[in-house]
Amino acid sequence: MEFLLFTFVGVVHLLSLSSGKPIYKNDISRRTFQEIKEEIASYRDVAKAIIDLAVYGKAQNRSYERLALLVDTVGPRPSGSRSLEKAIQIMYQNLREDGLENVHLEPVKIPHWERGEESAVMLEPRIHRMAILGLGSSIGTPPEGITAEVLVVTSFEELQRRAPEARGKIVVYNQPYVNYSTTVQYRVQGAVEAAKVGALASLIRSVASFSIYSPHTGIQEYQDGVPKIPTACITVEDAEMMSRMASRGNRIVIQLKMGAKNYPDADSFNTVAEIIGSKYPEQVVLVSGHLDSWDVGQGAMDDGGGAFISWEALSLIKDLDGTEAEGTSVPAHDHANPGGRPAELRTDSLRWVTGTRRAAPVGELGTGLASLRPAHLCPRRPAAHFSRSLVPTTCVSAAMLGLRQGLLTRFAHGPRGARIRRRFSLPAGISI
Ligand SMILES: *[C@@H]1O[C@H](CO)[C@@H](O)[C@H](O)[C@H]1NC(C)=O
Ligand SMILES: *[C@@H]1O[C@H](CO)[C@@H](O)[C@H](O)[C@H]1NC(C)=O
Repeated sequence: MEFLLFTFVGVVHLLSLSSGKPIYKNDISRRTFQEIKEEIASYRDVAKAIIDLAVYGKAQNRSYERLALLVDTVGPRPSGSRSLEKAIQIMYQNLREDGLENVHLEPVKIPHWERGEESAVMLEPRIHRMAILGLGSSIGTPPEGITAEVLVVTSFEELQRRAPEARGKIVVYNQPYVNYSTTVQYRVQGAVEAAKVGALASLIRSVASFSIYSPHTGIQEYQDGVPKIPTACITVEDAEMMSRMASRGNRIVIQLKMGAKNYPDADSFNTVAEIIGSKYPEQVVLVSGHLDSWDVGQGAMDDGGGAFISWEALSLIKDLDGTEAEGTSVPAHDHANPGGRPAELRTDSLRWVTGTRRAAPVGELGTGLASLRPAHLCPRRPAAHFSRSLVPTTCVSAAMLGLRQGLLTRFAHGPRGARIRRRFSLPAGISI
């Protein structure tokens, strides 16, 4: 039941994602909830076929095991690393052996940042070695580190109000966790805002709803014209403690050392595979994930899951197509026909792309297809928990996405669609 529920949650979500030009003759945004509900219900049989294959059939555990093998073999795959290139070569082989079409690698330049050694030690009011993780693209400190007094703030507004106190200090942000999109602004812009008011470095409370003294890394962005200062995340626990110390009037001093370094952009590849199909070979559904991962984890969740779910979607559709070839079609409504005339949903027009973070339009699309990602399907489960049961669920959603091409093939119109067309050398006039 769980699978069914989540599958349909995924599909509903996809419905709301389709923006831009009308997908049907009548504008999708004007369709009633009842109509959408009925349309989703009409996919019961095709959903069941995919679920049976992914959950109980020959594809049982397949994607989980494929992903487990890659992350166990390669480990973390930071952008610009040898292990990422190894992962790409393995994926290329995998996709070829899976019998997919047009499997190829496309050269792409990607950022190359290395963390190096890092540490933060509180010297006053007591000695305390803190867990930190430098943020992607941060510069390092001088070898002797930066030793400075701390200014603790809980918001950018407070930083503005207390701007004169920030000069020459290490700004510690102890922003409350609201939700990811709001709170992550502190991680992304914390260094720039601190540098604008003359701080020497910034330490940011990890963007997390829950902590077991666990710092989180992620990207941060410098701004032209603003001095670059080193920046790292600290744990929720240390941010809270420093807030308490500051409110008691304690002077806090930290020595921060970071060996982080930015290197010139590295050469890498997007990995592309397709099922071209015969009915609408000119149309494309793009599903993707990024293969690179942060250096401090294994990248099973972010975004090995996204990449392997996308691959599995193609595998499932290929398997179902094999069934069709034997004469057992997957019945459903073909929404290319406005009358909703029952027709076969075939494996047409699905292209699958995975790549590195730097392949911006693709990477964004991959992670932007939120319902392909377990954390979004199951918001109550911790994001780090990439479970065996979630994999087939999200694979099913992804396969549904591919099969429902009448609805989704045109989801990327406008400038984004144009960028993707250029990126993948698709002829003009093709709806993506
Ligand atoms: C899939 O994994 C489950 C849980 O580990 C196991 O019970 C089951 O036998 C596996 N199925 C196959 C086909 O390997
Ligand atoms: C996150 O919180 C902000 C501020 O409360 C709110 O405006 C925004 O809609 C929330 N975003 C999500 C995705 O819930």
